[in-house]
Amino acid sequence: ENRKLILSFETSCDETSIAVIENGDTILSNIVATQIDSHQRFGGVVPEVASRHHIEQITHCLNEALETAKVDYNDLSAVAVTYGPGLVGSLLIGVTAAKAVAFAHDLPLVPINHMAGHIYAARFVDQFKYPQMALLVSGGHTEIVYIESEYDFKVLGETRDDAAGEAYDKIGRVLGVNYPAGKTIDEWAHEGHDTFNFPRAMEKDDNYDFSFSGLKSSFINTVHNAEQREEKLDTKDLAASFQQSVIDVLASKTERALADYPVKQLVLAGGVAANQGLRDRIEKDLNQKFSNVQLLMAPLKLCGDNAAMIGAAGQVAFDHKKRTDMSLNAVPGLSF
Ligand code: KG4
Ligand code: ZN
Repeated sequence: ENRKLILSFETSCDETSIAVIENGDTILSNIVATQIDSHQRFGGVVPEVASRHHIEQITHCLNEALETAKVDYNDLSAVAVTYGPGLVGSLLIGVTAAKAVAFAHDLPLVPINHMAGHIYAARFVDQFKYPQMALLVSGGHTEIVYIESEYDFKVLGETRDDAAGEAYDKIGRVLGVNYPAGKTIDEWAHEGHDTFNFPRAMEKDDNYDFSFSGLKSSFINTVHNAEQREEKLDTKDLAASFQQSVIDVLASKTERALADYPVKQLVLAGGVAANQGLRDRIEKDLNQKFSNVQLLMAPLKLCGDNAAMIGAAGQVAFDHKKRTDMSLNAVPGLSF
């Protein structure tokens, strides 16, 4: 039998996820246990609470992932695991579980960068071609990555302060939206108009970097000033204005990168890649200005954190002979 099966672990933040991926592009199982309910009342992820949930969930997820995929440990080719970036206590649960499985069943252990994993969510859409560009937008990261050849990542630019998803969650809190706020703000944005014209930081700067903290402050000040005047602002317009500002800078920096680095494909991935406004805008931009670039948008279900994407990246890393041993540790600040 030449089935290549990867068992993958993802526990970098607030989802415990384990998947079985066949031949790098077929999902046999992808179990995701979310903890959002436990963090909501704190308005964000509490690291201690997250670690505890991972410990409680991980064996259930493992059994379910194997059962759903109808595979046994003997069928596996390798074990892949996210070892950073993320919360150290959360990462350690996945790393420890993956090490235990690899050791007990004498399987190769493949270390995966969470952000590389996000890119590979798009591998379930189509085959990858190089050179390739990726716009990665999540709760912890916002970066433009150039991939000249397979598994060779170079960060062209990134946020200098808040990540895009973080900005969504922070302004969401001001509007009374539960964590994570991105989806709700996105929905409201579609019912409003950009009447506030918030700043578009660094939009015209000659680099591929981002900054969202000024936008966040400007938004919060606008809402607080109105409250002091006992004036009611239109929530839908606030959401639409915030979202338009985020999309404008993400799109213009991506266009700049595409103009400077010709590529065959653009991957849009990460939690914020689920944003409908962003998906529509990037698609339109590519059609109009870069019609030779193929757009690969991560499937909506695989934009947020999941182990399927880690398994897809894991197969490629495994083929590139990436290996680690029982000394593997979590690296919370891991970069490409
Ligand atoms: O990639 P992800 O699941 O976790 C990290 O690795 O950070 O991203 C989570 C982030 C949250 O900040 C959430 O608010 C945001 O993705 N998000 C969205 C949307 N859906 C989720 N942001 C904007 N629009 C959305 N539709
Ligand atoms: Zn993520």
